[in-house]
Amino acid sequence: MSDKETKETNRRDFIFLATGAVAAVGVASAAWPLIHQMNPDSTALALSTIEVDVSGMEVGQSITVKWRGKPVFIRRRTRDEIDLARSVSLDDLPDGLARNNNATNTATATDENRSIEGKEEWLVMLGVCTHLGCVPKGQSIGDARGDYGGWYCPCHGSHYDTAGRIRKGPAPTNLDIPPAIFLNDSVIKIG
Ligand code: FES
Repeated sequence: MSDKETKETNRRDFIFLATGAVAAVGVASAAWPLIHQMNPDSTALALSTIEVDVSGMEVGQSITVKWRGKPVFIRRRTRDEIDLARSVSLDDLPDGLARNNNATNTATATDENRSIEGKEEWLVMLGVCTHLGCVPKGQSIGDARGDYGGWYCPCHGSHYDTAGRIRKGPAPTNLDIPPAIFLNDSVIKIG
């Protein structure tokens, strides 16, 4: 990507973030100039890895990006949200597994095992309800966030907490966490 394209991408990201809207933000890829001219779904499917600059995100802000054709929720959590998630006993969780592609298959659903290691503010999850695949609410300001303050799927009433764990409703498992790491202080690589 040229310097000019990088600057344009960054400017667009900033605008989305500054407006507080749920926004699909920049994909650091040489293919970016083509994306506007192609079907987004087929383009996104072709991108096995995306890089998202989150340096403009404030505490308490969420954004949604697209990865492999699916929405991915990125949230920079507040201290209260982290503390709330960490105060929950594993015995109270319908699904006791972390469902985190960055951890082992048997890792338990502690908040520590679901947030990005060493960066507890950050939660990166597929925005796909594990019941029948709706996109839960909770990313936009003013959204219903359910009984546990995280995300709420209105399709059949599934409530997720501030770690994206299912707490109430028909969804059988916690929201899945894709492979995700910070490449540096600003950029998360997903995939
Ligand atoms: S698809 Fe979310 S509750 Fe049914």
